[in-house]
Amino acid sequence: MQHLEALVRAVPGFPRPGVVFRDVTPLLADAGAFARCIDALAEPWLGEGVRAVCGIESRGFIFGAALAQKLNAGFVPLRKPGKLPPPVVGVDYALEYGHDRLEVRADALQPGERALLVDDVLATGGTLAAAQALLDRLGVALVGAGVVIELADLQGRARWHGAAPLHALLRY
Ligand code: PRP
Ligand code: HPA
Repeated sequence: MQHLEALVRAVPGFPRPGVVFRDVTPLLADAGAFARCIDALAEPWLGEGVRAVCGIESRGFIFGAALAQKLNAGFVPLRKPGKLPPPVVGVDYALEYGHDRLEVRADALQPGERALLVDDVLATGGTLAAAQALLDRLGVALVGAGVVIELADLQGRARWHGAAPLHALLRY
């Protein structure tokens, strides 16, 4: 994990004063590191029968799509509002820098389907909790969530509910 950590760039003062932004694009640009990152994200879920990987727009798409391939699962995008054609199901939520909404195609996931949530960063936890609420509403069997980075001081993990595990590769 140390090698991955070295490829996450800390950018003080972005997008606002006082915030240290963790930029994963150097990690993505390194073929070996990106592959190791996907292997590490997949490891807890091998043999867990994951049928769908649900990635959160937009950086969750990058990790989620690669992870879906690794787990031999389908990929389901959870999108910002107005991007998916109807019918959709959506939830509104607060995030670190404002408010937003997540939507999923209404028939993308079946009740009881074993799904995994993926995103790049867990910050305040509002986004992941909203995604969890959205999947709960569809009656999905959520096996857990995987994130590359957990900003532990923001305590986003506290907003993750239920018994399904939430795994983070790197913690700051
Ligand atoms: C970022 C990040 C997570 C979310 C985490 O997404 O990719 O999805 O914020 O924040 P939270 O835990 O406080 O909710 P952003 O909305 O910036 O979108 P992007 O991936 O399109 O840049
Ligand atoms: N880095 C990337 N994405 C984020 C961050 C961060 O520090 N905080 C919230 N979303």
